[in-house]
Amino acid sequence: MNSALEDLLAVLRFPSISTSSENAADVRNCAEWIAAKLTGMGLSAAIHQTVKHPVVVAKSKPQPGKPTVLIYGHYDVQPVDPLDQWQTPPFQPDIRDGRIFARGATDNKGQFMSHLCGVEQTLAEHGELPLNVIFLIEGEEEIGSPNLAPFLREHRSELACDIIAISDTGMVAPGVPTFTYGLRGIACLEVHVHGPTIDLHSGIFGGSVGNPNTMLAKLVAAVHDAHGRIQIPGFYNAVRDVHEWEKEAWTKLPGEAETLRLTGVPALWGEAGYSDLECRWARPTAEVNGIGGGYQGEGSKTVIPRSAFAKFSFRLVPDQDPDDIIKNVQTFFAKMAPDCVRVEIKPGHSGPPYSMDPHSVYGKAAQRALRATFDREPALIREGGSIPIVQSFNDILGSDTLLLGLALPDCQMHAPNENFTISNYEAGIRLNRRLLQELAM
Ligand code: BES
Ligand code: MN
Repeated sequence: MNSALEDLLAVLRFPSISTSSENAADVRNCAEWIAAKLTGMGLSAAIHQTVKHPVVVAKSKPQPGKPTVLIYGHYDVQPVDPLDQWQTPPFQPDIRDGRIFARGATDNKGQFMSHLCGVEQTLAEHGELPLNVIFLIEGEEEIGSPNLAPFLREHRSELACDIIAISDTGMVAPGVPTFTYGLRGIACLEVHVHGPTIDLHSGIFGGSVGNPNTMLAKLVAAVHDAHGRIQIPGFYNAVRDVHEWEKEAWTKLPGEAETLRLTGVPALWGEAGYSDLECRWARPTAEVNGIGGGYQGEGSKTVIPRSAFAKFSFRLVPDQDPDDIIKNVQTFFAKMAPDCVRVEIKPGHSGPPYSMDPHSVYGKAAQRALRATFDREPALIREGGSIPIVQSFNDILGSDTLLLGLALPDCQMHAPNENFTISNYEAGIRLNRRLLQELAM
């Protein structure tokens, strides 16, 4: 096995789940492994503790007069549940059919490690890099990067760069190089519906006491109309239209049939009047990521639960502002709340949408690297997912971000049996090596 692959397997063995406090030591150990690796490559690396999880920063030997690229990645991962759906344990990477199966294989350990190994190989071959490289690998992306923007502000001059590169997005299909010029933003919040002070016998009290599950279901159902349009006043105010050239370009990409195949749903759903890709990449959404209340065990239990909850995330598009959206949503639920229950809203993390000009000088350089690596014309796309820090890079460091994704449509990110193909790992390493050359110009 080659050393790049061994290194990836080593990083994948850390259960660095950022949302789970039980895993705090694993998160820390993962950061330490990465810092040690970067130090071993000859970069000056440091671990910066934040209020929560550490950030790893490493810099190559300064070469004055050369441009600087900051390569961002995240070593934290999503939780692994439902565990019984995994074919092999999530933190014991397993290689089957040319794929590495493990939590974080694609999102994002496999992708940032391809950059790290690309830099390592370039140094091994040439003794120096064609430009300055800063690695910024954080441990809180999957919880909304709450401490990274303050960190950027504090270390602004140390992190000054001409351009940022990230591989943490998707490829439209295997072998198709993909340049992403837009990401959706996100705003999360929880709705809690409180009813009686204790769980009640649903025979004795049912009929005159409002059931929190029912009241919550009404609130959830009020969010969309029958055409998939969000009913929250002001929600679409800042939404920009999709450009005609985008609509046109996206008709050539795998669309509805592919989405049906990948997801296994019997039919698609969505905002009337927009294509599948427009709905996923360029229109805002409201999703219920979790919902609960009352008896979840075996058989029946006749109870009116004392409370119920729903965890919402809203995906946002340019120029929606997460704070405005949270306010609008709060006002909406407060107004819709029936008198028989008390509705409490708990705002969560958020991050703005991002978009850049794909034809900028660095955008074109990145597309040359993609074209050369995959020997094919790159697809230009937006993505529906979010990387909350990307817009802050613009605001705080003043640099654009090149999104050069290596995730395949069937990589199962955030789901059981997440995987990364070895061939994409290797392509990612070649992409990084070429990117360094192209950005140095
Ligand atoms: N890598 C993803 C984002 C992504 C996935 C972008 C696919 C484009 C295509 C990232 O790690 C992620 O999952 N982000 C979270 C952010 C959230 C938890 C703040 C997301 O999008 O849900
Ligand atoms: Mn993710």
